[in-house]
Parts: sequence; structure tokens; C-alpha cells
Amino acid sequence: MRLYKAYLLLLGAISLSLFLFQCKTNIQSIKPMGEVVAPSGNPTTEDKIELGRKLFFDKRLSSDETVSCSSCHLPKFAFSDQKTFSDGVNGNKTQRNAPSILNAGYLPTVMYDAYIKTLELQVIVPIQEHVEMNMKMLDLLKKLRNVSEYQESAKRIYNRDFDAYVLTRSIAAFERSLISQNSRFDQYIAGNKKAMSKDERAGWKLFSEDLYCTKCHPAPNFTTYLPENNGLHLDYGADLGRFRIFNDSNDIGKFKVPSLRNVELTFPYMHDGSIKSIENVIQHYQSGGKNHINKNGIIQKFNLSSNQINQLKLFLFTLTDTSYMSRFR
Ligand code: HEC
Ligand code: HEC
Repeated sequence: MRLYKAYLLLLGAISLSLFLFQCKTNIQSIKPMGEVVAPSGNPTTEDKIELGRKLFFDKRLSSDETVSCSSCHLPKFAFSDQKTFSDGVNGNKTQRNAPSILNAGYLPTVMYDAYIKTLELQVIVPIQEHVEMNMKMLDLLKKLRNVSEYQESAKRIYNRDFDAYVLTRSIAAFERSLISQNSRFDQYIAGNKKAMSKDERAGWKLFSEDLYCTKCHPAPNFTTYLPENNGLHLDYGADLGRFRIFNDSNDIGKFKVPSLRNVELTFPYMHDGSIKSIENVIQHYQSGGKNHINKNGIIQKFNLSSNQINQLKLFLFTLTDTSYMSRFR
């Protein structure tokens, strides 16, 4: 009898410590995102951010002066555009859905193909892309050098004429200043237990414990930044993902895992905007995804009640933080 009691006690102690350990890994071990680290060649300054901001909103950066970076990356939509494909110059459409560029300063590699190493290098891509801004770099620099405000800023901040060095570093510095990490979820992990409702907390438990979502979308950034195939399509059609950069068949259908911060604002979803709502995204994962040969095996069928689907959605919407908008009103 005594042995039995001791056994029960031991079992109790083990399950209690397992429980405490779970709680610990669940919330307390989540660290805030930390500071953005700028590359040593381009330390961030207020002046650079201000110049970059003007350039980001300037339509003169496109061939017919109808498109700026902000045409596709709108502040009010978490710097995406809520369109399946975006509108570039001359009525052209982009081949992909415009991602949010909030917190872009944390990206180890840029673009859905996860291959461009810095924000500085990325800047010239949309400018030269025919369906986006369609500008020849030399023509653009000539044009912008004639804008006295830009030329004067270049001299003052960088001590040189306005050139590609000034253009790319300023826009990248501006992008590094786009921070969104004061969502209700952030307040919750910082210790404010009232920041999330019971249903939202239940949704977080589904997301982080019962399902497998945090394998690719771990807090606090809600992405591993790795290219993955999430079984979106059986046939990826014209856009084979990272394959188009490296020509490796293992990369077919792989796209950089997007952060889920501000997903409430960044619909439609996926690289091709093919999923319109969060409910439909959850349905996609619930079905186990399409059986593409490169699909990550973590993604398996599951079955949630409609109440649980709602809780999961409510949790995802706690990742909304538009406090950055105070700079753009
Ligand atoms: C016509 C619409 C359009 C314009 C204009 C545009 N972008 Fe984009 N942007 C996109 C699309 C679409 C993607 C996704 C491309 C991809 O990954 O292949 C993207 C991707 C990005 C990314 C990568 C984000 C990530 O998560 O990897 C950054 C950064 C970015 N754009 C910044 C800019 C800047 C800076 C400008 C202006 C110089 C600009 N964009 C102009 C549509 C646009
Ligand atoms: C194997 C890695 C992986 C797992 C596990 C995973 N995802 Fe994803 N998720 C991705 C990738 C990759 C994309 C982007 C695919 C694309 O663009 O075509 C994505 C996209 C999304 C998007 C759309 C974001 C946007 O801005 O377009 C949402 C929402 C999402 N996932 C939620 C979830 C949820 C909820 C779970 C758990 C049920 C989950 N994911 C599990 C890799 C994963």
C-alpha cells in the first residue's frame, strides 16, 4: 500500500514537472525579436531613413511615373497590397503576391526564393523589373540627380553625388526602420495575461502544441525564413519557386516561409495569392496539402471543429500590430 502511494506521488511529481516544463517552453522561453542589425557598410541613421522614405514613396522611380515602392507595399496593409498580383507600370501585373515588408530588417535572405542576401541588393530588382517599375538604372540616377533635394541629401549624408550607392542604402535603411512587434501576442508574452482572450489562448495552444505550425512558423518571428514546400499545389505551373534560381529539382515548389505577423491585413495568401482567407488556409493544412514530391512531411491531415478553426484564426489575428502607422498618417 505504501509503495502504491509513493508510486502515485512520483507519478504526480513527474506529470507536474512535465506540465510546468510545457508551460515554460510554451511562453516564457519566447524571446522578443531584438534589435535589427544593419550591415557594417550601412549603419542606420535618421537622415538615411528620411531620405529612404521619400524615395520609397516617389513615383519618379518608375518609367511612366505611376508606380512607387509604396504602390505595392502600402503602409495601411502592413506594406503589402491586398491584391492577388500587384499592378506595375503600363498595366502590367507581377507574377507574385506582394509580401509585407514590415520587420524586413530581420530577413537573412530576401524574396520568396530566399536568395538575395541584403535589402540593399534587393532595391534594384523592382526598379529594373519590366512589369514593376521598368527603369534603367543609369537613366534613373540621371533623373534623380536633377532633383535638388536628393542631390543635396546625398552630398550631406554620404558626401557624394546621388548614385546607386545612395539610393540602395537609403531605401534599405528606411526598410530596417519598419518595425511591427507590439501586437497583443507580444504584450501577452511580455507578461500581460489580459492581452489575449480565452479563445485566442486556445488558438495559440492549437497552433503551437496540438498542431505542427511552429515547426515552420515559430515565435517570435513566426518564420524559420527557410524555403519550404507546403503542399500548396500538385503542379506549380509557371512558378516553380526557388527552382528558378538554383535549377535544383529538390527546390520545386519551395518558397520562403512567410512571417505570420499581420496576416489579418496581408490577404490573399501564398506566393500566388491563391488562398483568399485564413479559414481557407487552415482548410489547406487540415487536408494535409497536395501530395507534391517535395512537400514537407510535417504537414499532415488533422481535424478541427469549426470552433477550433475560429480559435486558431483569432489567435493569428492577435499578431496584428499597426502602431507603426503613427509614422504614416
Ligand atoms: C509592382 C509591385 C511592386 C513594386 C513597385 C515593388 N515591389 Fe517589392 N515586391 C513585390 C512582389 C510581388 C514581391 C515578391 C517578389 C518575389 O519574392 O519574387 C516583392 C518583394 C519585395 C521584398 C522582399 C520581401 C521578402 O519577404 O523577402 C522587398 C524587401 C521589397 N519587395 C521591397 C521593395 C522596394 C524597396 C521597392 C521599391 C524600390 C519595391 N519593393 C517595389 C511587388 C512590388
Ligand atoms: C513545412 C513548413 C510549414 C508548416 C509546418 C506550416 N507552414 Fe504555413 N507556410 C509555409 C510556407 C512555405 C508558406 C508560403 C507558401 C507559398 O507562398 O506558396 C506558408 C504560408 C502560410 C500562410 C500564408 C501567409 C501569407 O502571408 O501568405 C499562413 C496563414 C500559414 N502558412 C499558416 C500556417 C498554419 C496555421 C500552420 C499550421 C497548421 C502552418 N502554416 C504550417 C510553410 C509551413
